[in-house]
Amino acid sequence: MTDRVRLVEVGPRDGLQNEKTPISIQDRVQLVNALVRTGIRHIEVGSFVSPKWVPQMEHTDQVLASIQRIPECTYSVLIPNTKGFELALPYKPNEIAVFSAASETFTHKNINCSIEESLERFKPIVNKAKEHNISVRGYISCVVGCPYEGGINPNAVAQLASQLLTLGCDEISLGDTIGVGTPKSISAMLKAVLKEIDVSKLALHCHDTYGQALVNIATGLNLGIRVIDASVAGLGGCPYAKGASGNVASEDVIYFLNNEGFSTGIDLTALKDVGHFISTLVGRPTQSKVGLALSVP
Ligand code: HMG
Ligand code: MG
Repeated sequence: MTDRVRLVEVGPRDGLQNEKTPISIQDRVQLVNALVRTGIRHIEVGSFVSPKWVPQMEHTDQVLASIQRIPECTYSVLIPNTKGFELALPYKPNEIAVFSAASETFTHKNINCSIEESLERFKPIVNKAKEHNISVRGYISCVVGCPYEGGINPNAVAQLASQLLTLGCDEISLGDTIGVGTPKSISAMLKAVLKEIDVSKLALHCHDTYGQALVNIATGLNLGIRVIDASVAGLGGCPYAKGASGNVASEDVIYFLNNEGFSTGIDLTALKDVGHFISTLVGRPTQSKVGLALSVP
C-alpha cells in the first residue's frame, strides 16, 4: 500500500492575497474549479478578513457561492474573528481556519491583537463552528523565524499548538511564513511539537523564500507528517516580510511526492496547466520549477 499525503491547496487564498494584479471573481471561481478537477480534495478558497487589510480577498462570499462543489472536497476559508465567521456561515464552508503566530509582534501586525487575545477571539468561533459541523484548522505563523523577532523558540510553537488543539482545532498547520527554516530548525520545531501533539493532527506550511521548502517538507515527511500545504505556481508572498516569496509550488510538491513513492490522487499535468493559467492572469511566469520543466517543448 502506498503512503498517502493530503495536499492542502492554499493558492486561491495565501497565493492570491499577496498578488498585486486584481483577479476577478469569475477567474477566482475558475481557478478553484480547475484545481479541484486536478484531483485536489482540500482547498482554501479565500478569507473573510477586513478588505481594508487584504483587499484581494474581498468577495470571497461570491467565490464560495459560485464554485461547483463536489462532496469529496473540503472547501476551507480563513477567518480572523466572529464577524468573519458570521459572514462566512451562510456560504457553508466545510472548514474554517483561524490563525495566530508564535511571535507577538507578527500577531499584532497581522491581526491587531496579542497571541493570548487571538486565542480568546477564536474560542467562540471554534464552538460555533462545531455546532454547525464545520471542522477547524488552526494556523501558527512564524514557527521557526519572524521578520521582526528573529529566531523562534520551538517550545513557544509547541505551547501554542497545544492551546489551539485544546480550543477544539482539528488540525494545526505549522507555517514557516517567511521561508527561513532549514532541516535543522524545522526538525527541532517539529520534535518539540510532537512531544505534545500526535503527528496525525499536524500539517506543514512552507514558503520557499530561500529555496528550502522541499527539503523542509522532506524533513517533515521523515518525521511522519502527511499533510502538506502548497500553492499552485508558487503564488504569493508575505506582506509583512520583504522579499518573501510564495508558498512552495504545488506542482513541485506533487512531483517530489510522486517520485518518493507517496500517493496524492492529483494529476500533475493538469496541475501544471492550472499553474500556467493563473500565472498568465497575475502577469508573471510560474514560480514552479516543475511547471517550467514540464512546459519545455
Ligand atoms: P481591526 O482593524 O483591529 O478590526 O482589524 P476592527 O474589529 O477594529 O474593525 C475595523 C473595521 O474592519 C470595521 O469596519 C469592521 O467592520 C471591519 P469599519 O467600521 O471601519 O468600516 N472588519 C471586517 N470586515 C470584514 N470581515 C471581517 C472584519 N473584521 C472587522 N472579518 C482584523 C482586525 C482581524 C479584522 C484585521 O487585522 C484583519 O482582517 N487581518 C487579516 C490579515 C490577513 O488576512 N493576513 C493574511 C493571512 S495570515 C497568513 O497569510 C499566514 C498563513 O498563510 C500561515 C503562514 O504562512 O504562516 C495563514
Ligand atoms: Mg502562508
